[in-house]
Amino acid sequence: MKATGTGQQTKATFLPLRVDKVSRSFGGLQAVDQVSFTLSVGERLAILGPNGAGKSTLFNLVCGDLAADSGRVYLRGEDVTGLPLHHRVRRGLARTYQTSSVFAGLTVGEHLMLAHRGPEKGRLSLWTRRAIQSEAADQARNLAEQVGLGSRFGVQGSELSHGELRQLEVAMALAAEPFIILLDEPAAGLSPAERERLTALLLSLQTSVAIVLVEHDMDVALTVADRVIVLESGRLIAEGNPEEIEADPLVRAVYLGEQHGQPQESAS
Ligand SMILES: Nc1ncnc2c1ncn2[C@@H]1O[C@H](COP(=O)(O)OP(=O)(O)OP(=O)(O)O)[C@@H](O)[C@H]1O
Ligand SMILES: [Mg+2]
Repeated sequence: MKATGTGQQTKATFLPLRVDKVSRSFGGLQAVDQVSFTLSVGERLAILGPNGAGKSTLFNLVCGDLAADSGRVYLRGEDVTGLPLHHRVRRGLARTYQTSSVFAGLTVGEHLMLAHRGPEKGRLSLWTRRAIQSEAADQARNLAEQVGLGSRFGVQGSELSHGELRQLEVAMALAAEPFIILLDEPAAGLSPAERERLTALLLSLQTSVAIVLVEHDMDVALTVADRVIVLESGRLIAEGNPEEIEADPLVRAVYLGEQHGQPQESAS
């Protein structure tokens, strides 16, 4: 952690993300129940849990797609609890969706150029506009290379495999130069080979970006994450590094129980 302050409060101010006792219910169902966690600079945190554990709800509370009933969310020390998603995005948060957000008729390059973060306001001269376009094109090329889509730059969304769609979504999230990326089940629906490629991609990302990864697949989560939190029935039941989580009897019981019951499939 790169905070320069000495006191606990000063350090906490610089955390990319701090979630403090957030809760959310739907009717009588407590989907997320007083969950707290923090994310350090450059850290990779996985949120694990069986179907219906509250992972996506927690994710949506963090990114602002859902309002919390109680508790607080801080981005780089700023209380963003009442702010909607687009305000959190402006502050440097990026998210991907469990369902694809790629357009069939646009190419990989066009997606990445559109995702480029241009200047926020002001009238621009023709030269400035050209310079921005050229910078966006360069960045699009670099991002496509970085996520392994360099050779697919001119290919339309409709032609991409599931794995390539996920790679493109990660690249689109990176295009806005966020300090934190939230990924909701990026490996869902991928073949084993595609999973491996995506895992390698996530491992290759620079640590200037902190990652929160919601994952159903333990292998992906434990490979990518530095730290893992496990939810069950909306509550945080375990927290630790991948080795600790893998050895945790409670976590094993939750996952083994699931294996003996319904097959694991992503529902949301
Ligand atoms: N909009 C909603 N309205 C009513 N109930 C909801 C809503 N969203 C989620 N729930 C319920 O809240 C609980 C937690 O759901 P959530 O989608 O957060 O779980 P999850 O851990 O992401 O599950 P999965 O692994 O299936 O994606 C579930 O019982 C779900 O049915
Ligand atoms: Mg979910």
